Amino acid sequence: MNSNDKKKLKLKVSAIKEGTVIDHIPAQFLFKVIAILGLDKIENQITFGTNLESGKLGSKAIIKVSDKFFETDEINKIALIAPHAKLNIIRDYEVVEKKVVEIPKEIIGIVKCFNPKCITNNETITTRFKVVGTSPIALQCRYCEKHTVGEQIKMV
Ligand code: CTP
Ligand code: ZN
Repeated sequence: MNSNDKKKLKLKVSAIKEGTVIDHIPAQFLFKVIAILGLDKIENQITFGTNLESGKLGSKAIIKVSDKFFETDEINKIALIAPHAKLNIIRDYEVVEKKVVEIPKEIIGIVKCFNPKCITNNETITTRFKVVGTSPIALQCRYCEKHTVGEQIKMV
């Protein structure tokens, strides 16, 4: 297969003129990513594809947001669920920059505290964790100080 054929195969979701393409999202977390980034609440044109083939991930999703350029802080919120996500910044149909996501120092309101007695599991309080390790990811709760690590991490 020549490279043009490969490009066509990849363009299952149309190219955009200006904006951001978020690629390599694990398919099962597509809607979580949409919610975390607030994409369900903005007026920009958004196209997405899911359950697309991906060597690394098995099955991936891709989101294309026209005329939107994310702040680093904003986009890093997805690092916990889409650590291999790649951002492509598009200007006049060309990819002008590629970025990766980085795990932020603090995680607010995305995951649950593993401690059933924690106040955040018993009252309506937004969870807050300090990231104390990255491989595996280890989070320390700001409220009960207990650690939630690796596979214990569940989304709120
Ligand atoms: N893309 C797009 N609109 C454009 C240009 C690119 O939607 N005007 C999308 C492509 O479909 C692709 C992503 O942006 O999903 C990255 O484009 P490109 O760098 O050309 O693709 P690859 O070389 O496959 O990049 P990588 O291997 O880093 O995923
Ligand atoms: Zn806690």
